[in-house]
Amino acid sequence: MTVFAPQDLFPQLAGWVANLDDTLPGKPIKDSVYAFAQIEVGHLLALAVLGGTSVLMNLRLIGVGLTDEPPRVLHRNLAGWTWAGLVVILITGLLMGAANGERLYTSEAFTAKMIGLLAGIIMTFAITLPASKNDGRLGPVSRIMGVIGLAVFMFAVWVFLQAKLANPGLWHVIMAGGLIVLFAARGLTRIVYLGVMLAMVAAQQVLTHLVYKADDFAHLDPVNKGFAWAFAGVILLTAVIQSVASGRSPESGPFVKGMAFAAILVWIMTAAAGRWLAFA
Ligand code: HEM
Repeated sequence: MTVFAPQDLFPQLAGWVANLDDTLPGKPIKDSVYAFAQIEVGHLLALAVLGGTSVLMNLRLIGVGLTDEPPRVLHRNLAGWTWAGLVVILITGLLMGAANGERLYTSEAFTAKMIGLLAGIIMTFAITLPASKNDGRLGPVSRIMGVIGLAVFMFAVWVFLQAKLANPGLWHVIMAGGLIVLFAARGLTRIVYLGVMLAMVAAQQVLTHLVYKADDFAHLDPVNKGFAWAFAGVILLTAVIQSVASGRSPESGPFVKGMAFAAILVWIMTAAAGRWLAFA
């Protein structure tokens, strides 16, 4: 039983969704042997472009990655690709959705994905692009929009958490956050962080593979959920310590760095929800 699937939020659309793949453009895609797969390839290529350009610009705002160039040069070279990636991922997504409406209509992962998409668009166009264009400086309107985008992102994570069969997808976001912080942390912070993370990974493996049997879900679920929150806590704490400790880099201060970190994770979460669409 679902709670946050589109069918629960918009029951009045059931009839329209049921006929979607019998009308254009859904029907020819559904009837074709190759079309859906070819469109999905386009979807994933667009994801690589959108996600890749977003990661490069946001890592630069955090103060790592392509640090030989100022953020405005990355903006000049990449902003057009970010736009192209977004337009193509929307077109290919809508085409696949037209041929596969029922799957999306009954999926809580799809609701999390669409809220994530909205948060990703707000954070990319309110934070990543203007901050990159102005070498890390942000006006008050962008800052307010960034905070709104972060709130929508947190709501998307909450909906994803409720999606019983899909919420393991959030481990993708935790892993990505963990790697970005490892990349951005410096000196003793990085050494202590790495030590703590490795100890936690070892403890989780011992508990879930040696202490509890593979089918003992009564114990495994709370253990894994506990570790998910613990990993997220350690990653966020280290991110805050690192962005405060590094203070104001020539370009961006702790606010922009924190938002740039979130502006990467929001696309990872949306992609994870997209991947888990196939499962739930
Ligand atoms: C209007 C927006 C979008 C719609 C309607 C849409 C729809 C879809 C559909 C129908 C699928 C195929 C699911 C299946 O296998 O049955 C899919 C897959 C996927 N989507 Fe989207 N999508 C949209 C936007 C996005 C965005 C913005 C991202 C990432 C940032 C994304 C990432 C993915 C991923 C990773 C897959 C899984 C591909 C695979 O592993 O086979 N999608 N999407």
